[in-house]
Formats: sequence, structure tokens, C-alpha cells
Amino acid sequence: MSILSWDDFNDDEEENGGTATATLPQPANPPQPESQPAPSSPEPKPVVAAAPSSPAPTLAADASAAERAQHAVEHLDVAAGLEDLEMGAQRIQVDDKRMINCRADLNQLVPFKYEWAWQKYLDGCANHWMPQEVNMTADIALWKSENGLTPDERTIVMRSLGFFSTADSLVANNLVLALYRHITNPECRQYLLRQAFEEAIHTHAYQYCIQSLGMDEGEVFNMYREVPSVAKKATWALKYTQSLSDPTFHTGTPENDQRLLRNLIAFYCVLEGIFFYCGFTQILSMGRRNKMGGVAEQFQYILRDESMHLNFGIDVINQIKNENPHLWTPEFQQEIIQMILEGATIEIEYARDTMPRGVLGMNAAMMEEYLKFIANRRLNQLGLPEQYAGVTNPFGWMSEMMDLRKEKNFFETRVTEYQTGGALSW
Ligand SMILES: [Fe+2]
Ligand SMILES: [Fe+2]
Repeated sequence: MSILSWDDFNDDEEENGGTATATLPQPANPPQPESQPAPSSPEPKPVVAAAPSSPAPTLAADASAAERAQHAVEHLDVAAGLEDLEMGAQRIQVDDKRMINCRADLNQLVPFKYEWAWQKYLDGCANHWMPQEVNMTADIALWKSENGLTPDERTIVMRSLGFFSTADSLVANNLVLALYRHITNPECRQYLLRQAFEEAIHTHAYQYCIQSLGMDEGEVFNMYREVPSVAKKATWALKYTQSLSDPTFHTGTPENDQRLLRNLIAFYCVLEGIFFYCGFTQILSMGRRNKMGGVAEQFQYILRDESMHLNFGIDVINQIKNENPHLWTPEFQQEIIQMILEGATIEIEYARDTMPRGVLGMNAAMMEEYLKFIANRRLNQLGLPEQYAGVTNPFGWMSEMMDLRKEKNFFETRVTEYQTGGALSW
């Protein structure tokens, strides 16, 4: 199997006029055969949780470790830690599953309700890659040569690595510290776990570039606190994590469910769906001009992953809307439109800051047009009206870049085979 094969990627990407993935409405799944107990395995007798009121006999003070272990196992409360579950209740059915506020058992992956989430998990795994697979030799030579890059090009590389090296940590932390526990569906959680690992790979990739090029790591990793146009993006997103990471926060009221939706939209549609696009376009444009091809290849693999993160997020948001239409009020829709516009405005500022002059065949005005085009796409994907009339995509090649998934070795720099299980020796 070719690990980095573009063939395995699903075709439902955006920016090329295609519609985002299977979103709404999800057809009601017919009862799955798997969801019924097999005739040969009749419904088991309900497990009766050990009544907490029946005290276990006490052990002698001089009992051995083995006796203590035996005693502990005999008196194990099988319901401990699963207090929210009804022990011995009926086996889980597809219709019991819900994206949020689900009371059914979250430890049972099947039967699937959201097949698209499982498919994205499989696609993500099929696209596995590691940063060390990319040859950075030419980039190192170019970066260290006196006149290899113009000062404006160097600024773009520095700023991109500065923003992205911490942005993917923000996304990963939001996933595991804020979002995960509120998405009450096991197949979506399976994808979230895969996404979390991919974010770790992305942070690794940026670190790998920074280290390979011999950059000042302190300077790069602190840009999100020290460079205003970078800091603004991080600060904007962080407040949505803080809103959810409070351990006392729970979904289940319209107000709190809307808070969760705001977090999803801030991270998937704005941070991953708008804030990544100026930097991606700049670096990929550099790669197209045969400069910093290793960094560009890393970014291309990341862009492929991010496209799927974005589509997954849109599907989750639309599914929540579908299952909870009372949340999607006209006032709330206005609020979301404003969030998308704030995101576009911040990213346009970033474009102006990183491109004071024309560079790499682009300039801040073209990027502004592109970002408005992207923002319109995000609104569309959420079922909201476009806000920027008459904008078109000035970077058609970005769509081609995403469509070029089937073109292997775009930059022709792959050097190694992915070593699955290479360290195992029996
Ligand atoms: Fe990422
Ligand atoms: Fe991501």
C-alpha cells in the first residue's frame, strides 16, 4: 500500500465547487442488522450492580496481597465508573445515538449512526504520514544561502511557521480539553482521536521545519504572543476554548448547547477553515515556484488533513443543527455570520502584515479577495447567506492543489517508505 496515496482521499472536498460532505439531513438509518442481538446470542441477563449497601466482609489485618486481590475482585462493583449507564438495559440501537446530550452507552462503537464519521476516520488513517519522510536538504541550503530568498519571502516562511507551530496545539488542546467530552457519539469520538493525533503530527512537522532550517525556536514559538497579527488569531480562538474547558460546564440547555456550537464553528470553520488559508496559500505558492519545496510538501500533506478536519466539523455542526433545530435561531445565525466575518477580517489583516508588497505572484489585495471567497464558502457550508457579493477565487491553483490529490509525488521529493512496525523484533 502506498501510504501517501492521494487515491484514498474522499472526493468531497471544497474550494472546487463541490459540496461539502454528507451533511444534512442525515437520512434516518434503517435498523441495522448488526444492531439486533444475533439469534445465537440471546439478550444476556441484566448485570445487577453490586448494591453499595451490602458491605464486603472485612479481611484479616494480616491478609496477604493475594488474599486482598482475591477479595477485591470478588467484591468488585461492576457499575462503578459507569454510573450514567443503565446496567442491563437494552442493547444500543442506532436510533439511540445522538451527536450531543446522548444518554446511550458511548463505549459501543457499533451500530454506526454517522457512517460519514467512521469513513473519515478510515480515510484519515489511510492518509497517514510523518514529517521525517520529507526531504528538507534543498530547503536547508536555500534558507542558509545569502540570496536564496528575498526578505519578503523569508518573512512569509517565518510568520507561517510562527503561526502554525502553535495553532495546531491550540486545536489539539481544544479537542481534548474542551470539545471531546461533549460530543456524545463514539464514531465521532473515534475521528476526534484520529484528528488529535494528526494535530500532533502537524505540530511535529512545523517543529521539524524550524529545527531543520536552524531558526530561532524561541522567536518562532513565541510569535503567537509577540507578533500582533499572529497573536490576534490565537487570542480570538482561545476565548472559545476557555468557554468550554470549565469542568463545571455541561451541555443540555439551549444556552450551553449554543456555546458548544460556537466552539465548533470557531475552531473548525474559522481557525482551521479561514485562519489557515493565507499561510497555506503563501507557502504552497512558494513550492510551486520551486522554493522551499520540503516545507511546501509538509504543508501540502497538512492541508490534505485539514480539509478533512474542516469537512468533519461542518458535518458535526450541521448534524447538531439537524437534531436540535431550536438552537439555530435567527439571532444565533446572525451571531455566527458575525463570527465568520470577524475571522475573515483578522485573516485579511494577517495577509496585509505578511505581504506589505507583492510577493510570489500574489499580493494582499488578491489574498483579501480569496479570503472573502473562502468566508462565503464557510457560510454556504453552514447554510447561511454569503456576505461578500461578487468575489471570485483568484487562486484557482489552490483548488487544483486540492484536486491534485491523485497526482503522486507532486513535488517529487519523497524519500522514505513509512515504517509500520519497523521497531518490532521478536
Ligand atoms: Fe492541524
Ligand atoms: Fe486540524
